[in-house]
Amino acid sequence: MLSSGSHKANASNVFRQDLFKGKILFCTGGRSGICYQIVETMMSHGVDAVIVGRDAKGLAESAQALEKSTGQRCLPASADVRDPKQMEQAVKQTIEKFGRIDFVICGAAGNFLAPISSLSTNAFKTVIDIDLLGTYNTIKATIAHIRKSKGSYIHISATLHYRGLPYQAHVSAAKAGVDALSSVLAVEEGPRGVRSNVIAPGPIGNTEGMSRLTPKGWKPENDIPLGRMGNTSDIANAAVFLFSPAASYITGTITVVDGGEHHIRQMSLPYPQSLLDPESVKNLIKGKL
Ligand code: COA
Repeated sequence: MLSSGSHKANASNVFRQDLFKGKILFCTGGRSGICYQIVETMMSHGVDAVIVGRDAKGLAESAQALEKSTGQRCLPASADVRDPKQMEQAVKQTIEKFGRIDFVICGAAGNFLAPISSLSTNAFKTVIDIDLLGTYNTIKATIAHIRKSKGSYIHISATLHYRGLPYQAHVSAAKAGVDALSSVLAVEEGPRGVRSNVIAPGPIGNTEGMSRLTPKGWKPENDIPLGRMGNTSDIANAAVFLFSPAASYITGTITVVDGGEHHIRQMSLPYPQSLLDPESVKNLIKGKL
């Protein structure tokens, strides 16, 4: 696993312990990785949470671990973000247990490395469905409750689509859509007191996505101005701020948390060799090409 250094900023040294007491967080993709860390950090500041995903067993284990580490309540709600009915059901379970929703994280995502020429229509559609349609379905299922609480959305996007990045057409198209959806949501719902913002993580260490998407041998210190991979806590700290009353005048924004990477992004696969001769980079990539 690539190192993210020893730069873990602890939100409890900065934000009040009971910041989110009495509030409810609904998070898709909270079983693992970045979203798990956001949920755990929010729970350490008093929120009760619902984590939503496809893997019922994994969700139950994660919910138990989150309750144990924070002392707050966490409900695992098994649902596929691609299915509006399942999302409505997850929201129903949330309201039955907690009675309200204050914060929503649209975090469920899928990714793999593949050039357009070897992406099947179904492969492209699958990522659009999880990332973009999944975000839409999550918004639709929760909006009535977020209006009621004058709550707030955070969408987990990326920086991949700021320029053309080979092997990432499916995710770039999906995340560009997510950014656009968040801006419209901010404008449409702002008059009702609802906020919507995007966090765009760069390379974050110790996550499933990073371990599969980073070519073997990649050196973050050469490609990231701050000289290291991010930690999941770097993203969680940004989320705590954006959900807190300190950000009450912030909506329709994209917060990039990437150590400055996108300003100087290098092609992580050799260019144009990886396009002209995909076979030659197969050994750098986990999964199929
Ligand atoms: N390269 C090319 N195509 C791929 C692929 C890869 N590495 N992985 C999946 N696909 C294609 C499949 O072949 C299928 O297309 P087909 O029907 O034409 O063969 C299509 O994508 C759907 O794949 P499938 O595995 O059936 O869908 P799924 O809904 O079960 O899972 C993902 C889709 C993206 C979630 C899955 O690839 C996955 O589990 N990824 C790991 C989790 C992840 O990405 N986490 C977030 C990281 S940021």
